[in-house]
Amino acid sequence: MEEQSLVVGIDVGTTKICTLVGRPETDGRVRVIGVGIEPSRGMSKGTVVDMRSAAQAIARSVDKAARTAGLEIASALVSLAASHVSGEISRGVVGVSGGVVDARDVQRAVESAQAIAVPQGREIVHIIQRAFRLDEQESVREPLGMHGYRLEAEVHIITASKASVANLRECVQAAGVDVAHFVLNPLAAGEAVLTDTEREMGVAVCDVGGGTTDLAVYIGGDVWHTAVIPVGGNHITRDLGYLFHLPLERAEAVKLRHGHADPAAVPADEVLTVRSFGDAETVHIQRREMAEVIEARVREILQMVHHELHRSGYSGLLPAGVVFTGGSSLLKGFQALAREELNLPVRLAKPERAFGMVDRIQNPAFATSVGLLHWASLFEQSAIPPEERRRSHEGEWAGKVKRFLRLLFP
Ligand SMILES: Nc1ncnc2c1ncn2[C@@H]1O[C@H](COP(=O)(O)OP(=O)(O)OP(=O)(O)O)[C@@H](O)[C@H]1O
Ligand SMILES: [Mg+2]
Repeated sequence: MEEQSLVVGIDVGTTKICTLVGRPETDGRVRVIGVGIEPSRGMSKGTVVDMRSAAQAIARSVDKAARTAGLEIASALVSLAASHVSGEISRGVVGVSGGVVDARDVQRAVESAQAIAVPQGREIVHIIQRAFRLDEQESVREPLGMHGYRLEAEVHIITASKASVANLRECVQAAGVDVAHFVLNPLAAGEAVLTDTEREMGVAVCDVGGGTTDLAVYIGGDVWHTAVIPVGGNHITRDLGYLFHLPLERAEAVKLRHGHADPAAVPADEVLTVRSFGDAETVHIQRREMAEVIEARVREILQMVHHELHRSGYSGLLPAGVVFTGGSSLLKGFQALAREELNLPVRLAKPERAFGMVDRIQNPAFATSVGLLHWASLFEQSAIPPEERRRSHEGEWAGKVKRFLRLLFP
């Protein structure tokens, strides 16, 4: 088995920054050999709001990962999630040159679909192939080798604010790391937690983090829709802080320890005594009242997810339901509320296909971080000429690489 190169991912979240160094295995799993988890600074709702603080926090995370792996980190895939990200569908048509579609025709069709006028101040982050249409036949998955005259490609183009992307790139570069590519947060999370069957049948992955809730819809194996909603667990913490007069760190600690999203599940008479502001102030918090506050905010987040799925037009095409990741999905009672609000099958997922130094990262909060490593591995694979790829990687892994090739970077 030939030695494969290393892959690096940096998940720049609103609450934590996680840098991982991994070694891809030929079976599609990845061995984690370096981990750097640090509290995030200078980020709000997925966007840089303080360059210096963000850059320093990223540097701390990178250094730690580099030290544990015992090597230098030169470049990495970096997660991107903010409400300035948006997606649109574009189509391109070409004439099939020889009556039978060849690779050049496919490439030309996809290229012409990409040739959209990108609005000023925005840049393309991902170009995702969806379906093809060949003459009158719609939803052609793989047109190669088919007879026809007019080939239409449909692509999903994801764009982001140029300035916000440049700010994040600069912060990462200040840590001495080159951004090889940005990967949209939910697409990284999806790679870490979704099964092929779910993706094929129709599923949404929903990463409920600290500052944002990120969504990606997969149908027929491809990404059909993505969205970033600017609310997350930090809003719950803030609600508790304001309502019960608690410093945010204490509100966060109380939430983690005693929080519940279902008031009926906590005893009506349980009262917590917590230090408040001021020298000797304490507050008494009814745990049930706290659960009511949490429930209201979680319902609101879930209703926004529901609305977004409905708006996408695909909510009826998700037999595999919604797979939740992100730290806030760990809130007790979350799953039951999600099932109720979305009326779909729901499961909580943590990254499974990673091994090695995974004690801390086998947790829903690290789905995006691990997903970046999977993306990086697939990215490496896709650079290998197809003949060699076929020889060394049979079966499921080869299928994954092929699927990945439909997910292009600009
Ligand atoms: N056990 C838990 N119970 C409740 N909430 C939790 C738990 N663990 C983490 N959280 C919450 O999850 C949030 C952090 O999640 P995560 O680490 O996925 O966010 P992030 O990636 O830093 O942020 P984002 O993706 O939004 O930019 C915080 O609001 C935290 O309070
Ligand atoms: Mg996150």
